[in-house]
Amino acid sequence: MKQLIVGNWKMNLTRDESSLLVNELLKNNFQNNVEVVLCPPFISIQLVGELIKNSSIKIGAQNISEHESGAYTGEISSQMLKSYNCNYCIVGHSERRQYFNETDELVNKKSKILLSKNIKPIICVGETLSQREENKTAEIITEQIKESLKNFSETEILNSVIAYEPVWAIGTGKTATTEQANEVHELIRTLLAQLYNREVAIQIPILYGGSVKGENALELLSQNHIDGALVGGASLKSSDFAKIIVSAKNS
Ligand code: PGA
Repeated sequence: MKQLIVGNWKMNLTRDESSLLVNELLKNNFQNNVEVVLCPPFISIQLVGELIKNSSIKIGAQNISEHESGAYTGEISSQMLKSYNCNYCIVGHSERRQYFNETDELVNKKSKILLSKNIKPIICVGETLSQREENKTAEIITEQIKESLKNFSETEILNSVIAYEPVWAIGTGKTATTEQANEVHELIRTLLAQLYNREVAIQIPILYGGSVKGENALELLSQNHIDGALVGGASLKSSDFAKIIVSAKNS
C-alpha cells in the first residue's frame, strides 16, 4: 500500500506564510510511492489548491458540516469542498472531540456525507492518558471504530482512512513507542477484518499521529500496520515535513 502523509496545519499560517511553505515544499520531488496531503484551514484551501495543482500533492480539509446546505452560519459543506477539489477531510480529530463536543455519532454522519461526495474521510480515534493508564485503550478504540463506522458499506470503508492518534501524544512531544502504536494499529486492523473481512481490512490505510517528526518517522512508518502519518506541528516547516515524506519513501 502507498504510504499516506497528511499535514494538519490546524489553526496556523496566514496567506503569505501558507504560500511560502507550499512553495518550499514544491522544490522537493515527492512523486513515487507516497501520497502527500495538505490540510490547511478552510480559508486557505483555494490558495493552496492553486499552488499544488501541477504537483502530486493532494488537498484536504480539517472539518466539515454534517449538513448538506442551508442556514448554518459559519459552516462549510462537503459540496463546497468538492468544488475546490478536496480529496480528503479529517473527521473527529481529538481537538474537535474535546473542544467542540464531537461524538462518534457526529463523526459517522460527517464521514457519510463526505463519502457521498467522493471525499475520503480521515477518521481519527485515540485514547486519553487516563484511559490508557486505566487499561481502557482497547475498549475505547473498539467503541470509537465501531460507532464511527456504523452502517458503512464495503465501498465506503474502502474509501476511508483511519488515523490512530493517542490524545496524550498530540502536540506534547511524547510519541507512542513503536510497539504501543503498532499494537493499537493491529487491533484496528483486526476490528476491520471482523466488521468486513481480511481482504478489505488490509486495504484500509491506518495512519499514526501524535508528535511525528523527522527523527522518529522512519521507525514508526516501518511498522507492519502503520501505513502513514497524520502530522501536526512538524507539517508547518517544510524541511521537517519533507523529512517525514522521505522517511515514508524509505520505510
Ligand atoms: P502533532 O499533531 O503532530 O503536533 O502532535 C498531530 C495531530 O493532531 O494531528
